[in-house]
Amino acid sequence: MTNAASPYGTLPPAADMSSRKPISLPRLNDMRARGEKITMLTAYDATFAAVADAAGVECILVGDSLGMVCQGLHSTAGVSLETMRYHTESVVRGLRRVQGTAWVIGDLPFGTYHESREQALRSAMVLMQAGAHMVKLEGGDWTTETVEFLVKRGVPVCAHLGLTPQTVHALGGYRVQGREPAAAAQLTQDALALQEAGASMLVLEMVPAVLATGLTEALPRCHTIGIGAGNGTAGQVLVLHDMLGINLGKNPKFVRNFMTHADSVQTALSHYVAAVKDGSFPDNTLHAW
Ligand code: KIV
Repeated sequence: MTNAASPYGTLPPAADMSSRKPISLPRLNDMRARGEKITMLTAYDATFAAVADAAGVECILVGDSLGMVCQGLHSTAGVSLETMRYHTESVVRGLRRVQGTAWVIGDLPFGTYHESREQALRSAMVLMQAGAHMVKLEGGDWTTETVEFLVKRGVPVCAHLGLTPQTVHALGGYRVQGREPAAAAQLTQDALALQEAGASMLVLEMVPAVLATGLTEALPRCHTIGIGAGNGTAGQVLVLHDMLGINLGKNPKFVRNFMTHADSVQTALSHYVAAVKDGSFPDNTLHAW
């Protein structure tokens, strides 16, 4: 990657890249403390990871959504740990090539952390050894023991509540979670327990904006990252292909196509970063429940 103009857009010059400091948990804590929104995008390969990093995206999630966007699966439930390892390594290699600074999160796939804490640690090690800085796992109270076990062994954990795509069949489809008072109370209890267990990030997917905002205030040590959860969270994440308007299916209602006013992928990603930072994305009047 150079700063030469290319069909892929223009990346910042190498000097700019090398002067940037790697993103770390303390840096994310500092951003939160000064009210700066955290930006996250999914990426599954070297090139897109480098482009996202150059656009200023702080966190790259090697999401198991790759099952749908790369492998053509109907849900994320069929993604294997070996596939996640392969894509995590590719992303990390891409970032190293451009001296990227992004924080990389590897998604633990369905069935690789459900049996025992030990199974979860073995799976997490595969992704950490592939270069991830943190692992993500889905689920509420039943995952707290596992989160604590991983964190105590030096594996930073991002939890994931609300619409948890690995269990979409049990949830009855891709629908908003936590609308009813009892469901909102359960979600709140789970989120507090996950922070207590040591999770330092929490993806909140498809939950009402008012609930996500309340959880963000209640979780000072665990950074909430919203997707379809309004603009009151500490940060935002989108699936890369969705926000580039190249989703094979129908885009969820909360997604904005950032290619609409961009002449390159990198420009689209820079617009995303700017819109999250200045609070104009997501727009609660358009993108929240
Ligand atoms: O796998 C993924 O891309 C995710 C995001 C939707 C948060 O979990």
